[in-house]
Amino acid sequence: MIRSKIAGIGMYLPENVVTNDDLTKVMDTTDEWIIERTGIKERRFATRYKDTTTTMGVEAAKIAIERAGISSQDIDFIIFATLSPDYFFPGCGVLTQRMMNMKEIAALDIRNQCSGFVYGLSVADQFIKTGMYKNILLIASETHSYALDFSTRGRNISVIFGDGAGAVVLQPTMKNDQGVLSTHLHSDGSDAELLSMMNPGFHAGRFVSAKKPPVPEKPYGGLFITEDLLAKEDLYPYMDGPAVFKKAVIKLPEVIMEALNQNQLKTSDLKMLIPHQANLRISQYVQQKMGLSDEQVYNNIQKIGNTTAASVPIALCEAWEDGKIQDGDLICLAAFGSGFTWGSALLRW
Ligand code: UT7
Repeated sequence: MIRSKIAGIGMYLPENVVTNDDLTKVMDTTDEWIIERTGIKERRFATRYKDTTTTMGVEAAKIAIERAGISSQDIDFIIFATLSPDYFFPGCGVLTQRMMNMKEIAALDIRNQCSGFVYGLSVADQFIKTGMYKNILLIASETHSYALDFSTRGRNISVIFGDGAGAVVLQPTMKNDQGVLSTHLHSDGSDAELLSMMNPGFHAGRFVSAKKPPVPEKPYGGLFITEDLLAKEDLYPYMDGPAVFKKAVIKLPEVIMEALNQNQLKTSDLKMLIPHQANLRISQYVQQKMGLSDEQVYNNIQKIGNTTAASVPIALCEAWEDGKIQDGDLICLAAFGSGFTWGSALLRW
């Protein structure tokens, strides 16, 4: 049976380190609040005119490709996961293809926010298993810092996000004891606006749930962006943090157990769980609920912040570079975020 394996992995972090104290200079927050509620001490912000979502993804991809022992010309499919694309359209997949001088290969963008990498891994896995592609480049990259509200109004969101990119190359393997064992994807759009950025959007407001602040009534320039909306600066991400938190700590253990159960494995079989780095308290809650040891759960949110789609591959890459993942280890990746969408992947390294 053909399985897909991670043949190469890479990451890129922008050099600009932003500490909690740096944020206290522009908004009403404190180092203590951020550490206590999120675990974050610092994050990286992209540098304007140097880093974009695509350029950071390409830097991570170059490392992953080199570690896979191939060249960019061998890539036959690009999957690019991001919620912060360089352009509204076209996606970062084709921009990557152009920047890396690749052939006329297929390029797909995934807009699944925090679960984008796990969704991308699942898509790649299907294409490898059917034999359609042999060298898939999966990138997840985010530049949040260009579009956050750094006034006190946006502090519940702006303090948690950071920028960065991770990438993997997926290849087929015939070994039974290696590669992706299974992937598990879920979504529930009933609370879509609880973690959202609705504008710019052609239908902003039309599908708004009762839980979201007032809806624009008069169309502006044919769109549903009103002057009122602009005045409220509703062009920034919105998050009902506690609601997202509560859902995440239920769905993450569920989807991790789903992966273990399908493969008739137990939590004690796990060498490492790499959870989406949303909030250290979420990871700790999941760890406690599942009875996992400190060594079994990898966290790097303390110095990187929440990089949404990029958080899982960055953490996976860091853990591997630190020698914490060896051949044969059982690894679980799990993510939950906006949509809501969530998922897990179980793999044997
Ligand atoms: O990756 C995508 C998925 N996202 C997540 O999983 C995020 C899930 N949610 C969270 O991580 C947490 O809800 C947050 C870190 C976003 C917020 O933490 P919280 O403990 O849920 O705080 P809260 O939103 O309930 O706010 C508590 C208080 C409020 O003040 P009052 O109303 O009690 O006076 C906020 O105004 O903390 C205030 N607050 C802040 N104070 C200082 C909110 N943000 C800040 C801040 N600095 N940055």
